[in-house]
Amino acid sequence: MKWVEKMGYVITIDGPAASGKSSVSRELSKKLGIPWVSTGAFYRGLAYVAQQMKTDLDNPIALSELCFSKTWKIVMTTEKTQVWFDGVDVTDKTSHEDVGNIASKISHFPEVRQSLLDHQRNCAVENQGLIAEGRDCGTVVFPLAEAKIYLTARSEDRASRRAQELGLDKDVLKAQQKQRDIQDSTRKVAPMQVPAEALVVDTSELTLEQVVQKAYDFSWPKVQR
Ligand code: DC
Repeated sequence: MKWVEKMGYVITIDGPAASGKSSVSRELSKKLGIPWVSTGAFYRGLAYVAQQMKTDLDNPIALSELCFSKTWKIVMTTEKTQVWFDGVDVTDKTSHEDVGNIASKISHFPEVRQSLLDHQRNCAVENQGLIAEGRDCGTVVFPLAEAKIYLTARSEDRASRRAQELGLDKDVLKAQQKQRDIQDSTRKVAPMQVPAEALVVDTSELTLEQVVQKAYDFSWPKVQR
């Protein structure tokens, strides 16, 4: 496969909403000196842009056409994966929980997933190495990744974490995350699941530093060439 030959090494970090994927990816990327991307940003970006363009959220063909529109783009930075729409950075708007919920709904369309796949894989080709986080990074987007990690955490802790970040009610978030996890793990195409040979880390009782260290200790020997 051409895209595989052109890639540097890839580390994938999958897991449910608010399990710490972005924070761990960001810190691991600093430690290893390679870029990282949130694949969720592609789904969030599409959800946001579709809302703005009044695209029918039940129409997979219209949504997948929108994946190729030049009106929006994904930009990787060391701090976050940005979404730009009509020349404006709309990343903060896409981080709202309601955009995440729409992202989860439209992500079950195979046409949408297929249309975003090359964009996501190109992040590794263009950067000669990558940390990619999401739901299906280790299983579908980068099945040949050198190191695969799966983060999990108690739902109580995940809701508290996001409630603090967004200043929202913990119980409402807990219910929304539960709903999103069910949707993401039960869809027919590329459901969220633990990739074979992944390191599974429950982050509930660990500090960010401890999780990053575990991820580093696991991936570093696998990515040395
Ligand atoms: O990681 P996140 O919360 O930003 O992701 C938002 C939604 O996007 C998530 O609920 C499902 C979808 N998603 C996906 O289907 N596959 C991915 N690799 C990443 C995200």
